[in-house]
Amino acid sequence: MMPFESIFLIYLVSAICFILGLRGLSSPQTARRGNFLSMSGMALCLITTLIVAPGRNDVGILSALILAAVIGIYTAWRIKLTALPQMIALLNGAGGLSSLLVGTAQILRHQAHTFDTSVGIITGAVVFSGSLIAFLKIGGWYRLKRSNFSNILNILIAAALIFYWVRFSIDDSMTTACLMIASALILGITLTLPIGGADMPIVISLLNAASGFAAAGIGFSLTNILLIITGALVGAGGMILAFVMCKAMNKNIFKIFFASQTPAQSVADNSRQARTASISDVAFLLQNAQKVIIVPGFGMAAANAQYALFNLSSVLQKKYGVEVKFAIHPVAGRMPGHMNVLLIEAKVDYQQVFSMEEINPDFETADVVYVIGANDITNPAAQTDPSSSLFGMPILEVYKAKTVVFVKRSLAAGYSGADNPLFFAQNTLMLYGDAKQITEEIIADLGTK
Ligand code: TAP
Repeated sequence: MMPFESIFLIYLVSAICFILGLRGLSSPQTARRGNFLSMSGMALCLITTLIVAPGRNDVGILSALILAAVIGIYTAWRIKLTALPQMIALLNGAGGLSSLLVGTAQILRHQAHTFDTSVGIITGAVVFSGSLIAFLKIGGWYRLKRSNFSNILNILIAAALIFYWVRFSIDDSMTTACLMIASALILGITLTLPIGGADMPIVISLLNAASGFAAAGIGFSLTNILLIITGALVGAGGMILAFVMCKAMNKNIFKIFFASQTPAQSVADNSRQARTASISDVAFLLQNAQKVIIVPGFGMAAANAQYALFNLSSVLQKKYGVEVKFAIHPVAGRMPGHMNVLLIEAKVDYQQVFSMEEINPDFETADVVYVIGANDITNPAAQTDPSSSLFGMPILEVYKAKTVVFVKRSLAAGYSGADNPLFFAQNTLMLYGDAKQITEEIIADLGTK
């Protein structure tokens, strides 16, 4: 049997790996190293736990490990980048489920429970069922609008949950424990069901945080220091991310769960005419510009256009001496850092990539802004129209540029469902088509001149 001090020391090394890993993830240049460190920490604690587990069932544990590894590797391999938020929702759910199962096993083993066990179980159950609903909603498989009834229902279920929790702490009965778990599972569903798809990423972040706190609760009941540290890290990280997203999308966390939300309406105004451009028009504008700012959005990711974008920026800089910058909105795409990851993957020089705060003063002096597969993050209604669902969200102020070129397939609205008046502005040109194909055609046009 390994001495307690050695186990403690190994767990501490794993925890340090997680902390340094998280630090590495704060910048695209160090993200790979950060990921590797975190994986090493996880491998170390898995091996140690396997060695020190008392009365372990080797065949059972190994079979479960192999099965889980095959499912994990297969899913991660097959998943499209655009479906990552759904996958994260499922992974959060798995975290919640494990806290629920470990906590329940603790109760069955000791025929009693502690405060931290029941906190871990309740939070785990809410996270598990809530994450499954988030998974269905973010994939667009389930829609339900909020009604006043939602809030009343949530209050009733929360009251039932508290009642069974208090009762369980008195009678330690398995029946009460089952009723407590059932109420928590139902609360996870009713809390998440009415939330709009646009708010789902914030909800996923909060569920992620909750799964961390659930794990920390179970860590206390198992007196497992590693579980406490990692649970706290996940909990704090998830909360910070949720607040950062709320700020970038101008959302209020409380309102997401409890206030009634008016779904955004896309009011197509057919009387307005957007000016269109051809491939050669845009190629001409770009090659004659002194300064071009590229604004990528979700459509760039959907079309996998990042490599074409890199080639376009190279041609413009090397062949025509154009100054090219990339502008990244904090919620461009569908997950935090979505655009940064893709641009780095395509080997775009990170010195050319700027955050919203850094680049906004630059738009006034830009000759051309090439908006590729982006929409909401450029929508000036966020600054001017209080009736817009985007009102109050900080945007990339592309409308200040001499010419704005939108590359997208139609005049359709973006994720928020809000119309973008910039499509109809005097200085805007629409270039309809798939982001990757259009960019490649512009490069081909530039190459022939
Ligand atoms: P959106 O506003 O969703 O606009 C993307 C545009 O891309 C669409 O209008 C679409 O227009 C176009 N598009 C789609 N596929 C394309 C393709 N293959 N080629 C060319 N264009 C294509 O995206 P955004 O500007 O990146 O803004 C992000 C939105 O998502 C914000 O509302 C944000 O709040 C929300 N959101 C962000 C996050 C995070 S954390 N990033 C999480 C959740 C929600 P067409 O159909 O006309 O082509």
